[in-house]
Amino acid sequence: MTTTIMFANNKGGVAKSQVCVQTAAALARRGLDVLVIDMDPQANASRRLGVVFDEATNPIPTISEVLLAASSTEGAGQGAVTPCTWTQGDEGQIPTAEAERIDLIPSRFDLINRADEAAAVGAVRRLKKALAGGWTEAYDVILIDTRPDLGHLVQMPMAVADFVVIPTDATFDGANGAIEVRTFIEKHAEDLGNPNLRIGGVVVTRWRTTNEAQYQLEGLTQEFGDLLWNMRETEMREVTSTDGTTELKEVETFPPGIKELTRFTEADGAAVSLSAYTDERGRTAIAFYEKIADRIASELLPIGERA
Ligand SMILES: Nc1ncnc2c1ncn2[C@@H]1O[C@H](COP(=O)(O)OP(=O)(O)OP(=O)(O)O)[C@@H](O)[C@H]1O
Ligand SMILES: [Mg+2]
Repeated sequence: MTTTIMFANNKGGVAKSQVCVQTAAALARRGLDVLVIDMDPQANASRRLGVVFDEATNPIPTISEVLLAASSTEGAGQGAVTPCTWTQGDEGQIPTAEAERIDLIPSRFDLINRADEAAAVGAVRRLKKALAGGWTEAYDVILIDTRPDLGHLVQMPMAVADFVVIPTDATFDGANGAIEVRTFIEKHAEDLGNPNLRIGGVVVTRWRTTNEAQYQLEGLTQEFGDLLWNMRETEMREVTSTDGTTELKEVETFPPGIKELTRFTEADGAAVSLSAYTDERGRTAIAFYEKIADRIASELLPIGERA
């Protein structure tokens, strides 16, 4: 069985594309076969997976053509599937073990034109039709990246996904965007023909320990309860104060959200998996995505595919 998870937040820049791409890598490391679908005309997830459409040099079919074809043809998505091109080795010719398990339906800017076709009969089901016909059963998981709004290009994945995972920074606007996604689903999942669509989880991104961030985290916890994937870990440690006294204190050993770290910006910029870095900073960064993959495997995937 294939589980379809989309990443969405009405706010931009909250790491939706990063969470989509690096989660794909983390699930691939567990031996799961992953299809990423880029539903954002910015095509950030496509580029970060090593696939860039170019009219002159790389005129590959993208999700834009798939959605056009899907008006008349079921299963049209299969024709635009292309492998992730992450490579390893000095020559850079060998696909990485992760890339072997990650396929992509890429995006390009032209996708913006599909947004204007929302009024056409059945338009909101076009992505669902494109994925129909059984060909997606080759994948354990489909991950869909979306743009920061709740318009037609986000509604199409909502019509087909099993779960929405909401990345958000710990700001008022991010939390508000997350709540808007939930409210939208509550109001419209049925209209979109997908009444079983659920929020799978909320991931805090770009975490920095400030009073404001703690305050927003508390608000998110109140709003989303257990759906907030708080990663915080603590342990009791003996702490010596300046006056020389020692006491047992609860010390945070892992932050509640994905930390703001330059290693993430570097990986996104260089279009590589976090596993391309083998130094301490790389290991620190990758640990966040191991936790997200744990959560997805244990809570969203059917038993038996929780590798
Ligand atoms: N934890 C982090 N630490 C440092 N930089 C980060 C972190 N998370 C994301 N970024 C950076 O923030 C920027 C936005 O991230 P990303 O593009 O993944 O967000 P997005 O939500 O997909 O944006 P958009 O709404 O434009 O689609 C990128 O440059 C990314 O590298
Ligand atoms: Mg994005």
